[in-house]
Amino acid sequence: MPSVFIKTYGCQMNERDSEAVAAQLVAKGYSLAKTESAADVVLLNTCSVRDFAEQKAMNKMKNLVGTARKDRPGQILGYLGCMAQSRGRELIDKLPDVDLVLGTQKFHRAAEHLDELLAGKRDKIVDVAPEAKSEAAIREHLVNGSAKTSVSAFVSIMQGCNQHCTFCIVPATRGEERSRTIPDIVAECRELVARGVREITLLGQIVTSYGKRFSPAELWEGEGIPANRGASGVDSCGNSAFVQLLEAVHAIGGLDRIRFTSPHPKGYGDDLVAAYARLPKLCESAHIPLQSGSDRILKLMHRGYTREKFLAIVEKLRRAKPGIGITTDIIVGFPGETAEDFEMTLNLAREVQFDNAYIFKYSPRRDTPAAEMPDQVPQEIREERNHRLLELVNAIAARKYDEFIGRQVEILVEGPSKKNPARYTGRTRCNRIVLFDGSARHQGQLMDVKIERTGSFTLYGDPAVINL
Ligand code: SAH
Ligand code: F3S
Repeated sequence: MPSVFIKTYGCQMNERDSEAVAAQLVAKGYSLAKTESAADVVLLNTCSVRDFAEQKAMNKMKNLVGTARKDRPGQILGYLGCMAQSRGRELIDKLPDVDLVLGTQKFHRAAEHLDELLAGKRDKIVDVAPEAKSEAAIREHLVNGSAKTSVSAFVSIMQGCNQHCTFCIVPATRGEERSRTIPDIVAECRELVARGVREITLLGQIVTSYGKRFSPAELWEGEGIPANRGASGVDSCGNSAFVQLLEAVHAIGGLDRIRFTSPHPKGYGDDLVAAYARLPKLCESAHIPLQSGSDRILKLMHRGYTREKFLAIVEKLRRAKPGIGITTDIIVGFPGETAEDFEMTLNLAREVQFDNAYIFKYSPRRDTPAAEMPDQVPQEIREERNHRLLELVNAIAARKYDEFIGRQVEILVEGPSKKNPARYTGRTRCNRIVLFDGSARHQGQLMDVKIERTGSFTLYGDPAVINL
């Protein structure tokens, strides 16, 4: 039976999609190769958010082509995901050794296409057309027969995004917002929990818009609408479709923790803030993309909120859940960003005191409005702002990590650390990684550890009280 190696670039959504393709191929009899060079099929699951990510996948494929020509002439090479979607056939025109280009609504067709390519029935396949219901096409994404039971799993609740931020290529690569129904998502979560999963992260590009287009009947398809739901999809307690989903997942017995990513600040309503206080399984961590601290830039980005609104969300969350971990994404050097705009971002970061922030240098993307805007910021200024903001957020983050020293925290143990298998790794509810001297019996357990010291974005703990 053929073997496959999948390399993933980009976000958690991509990781989840790669898992889904791997599970699908294993179910069809494929094996998972340990290395690219040992594989009959190598697939790159790609990211298009920034040019750098695309360049990495292009260079990687060039190297793969070189080695395949020399050592494995029959090896099948394919691009999956966002770059496949946005570039399509162009990828094969550039690199004629590529056999498969599979778009973001076609992951469920990977096995049938690979079978045809391997059997020599077809030479090249480019499949990037939109497909109705593809958001619910793959549910299975744990590899059958794998020795490792995941403690933590991703569940995709929706695809696409309609926000059209002016810098972002995602609406083009992932398409229109399409949500799965609550009963469908809950059924998947139940299956995961039955297989040992204890923490679920609900995934979508803009999860706060989950189910917005559904009528209540569509939202609850297959199960019937619970009694307190109004005609608008918002229930009688004022809960949006997303909060109704959180409640439904929360009710699953045996599940310990729920997370989600990414929300949009404009959708961070009081119902969602209240959910943190009301639903004990909902972990105290929130990744809320800020992008800029300047209202003028936020407007040019088409973000739909102001810095005041963002600050108000953070304040409400901290009031509802003191100690909540708040992380964000920030873009520096968006077209037209002046020194004053950037100062506003710096002082907002100082004011919020993020637990961590991912900083991106603005990268013009094809067919996005921002790429055509005047006053593109020179590369060296983007670099400089990146450096300054990074210094600030890292200093704040390090201080916030140090505050953990001496504290006892609850962690969910995920397994041996990848870097040092003698250590075990877990996460706090506020999503910080903790390393400790553990063993296989700790895997999948919720336990308390006392934090003794910190490293770079890591806490080192001592099992204080072990709740076994
Ligand atoms: N809603 C999605 C956004 C995906 S893109 C999510 O939160 O997962 C992830 C991050 O990449 C964005 O929040 C933004 O900060 C950054 N990004 C997107 N387009 C970019 C661009 N053209 N240049 C630089 N950074 C970008
Ligand atoms: Fe992109 Fe903005 Fe949607 S960042 S994914 S268009 S919310």
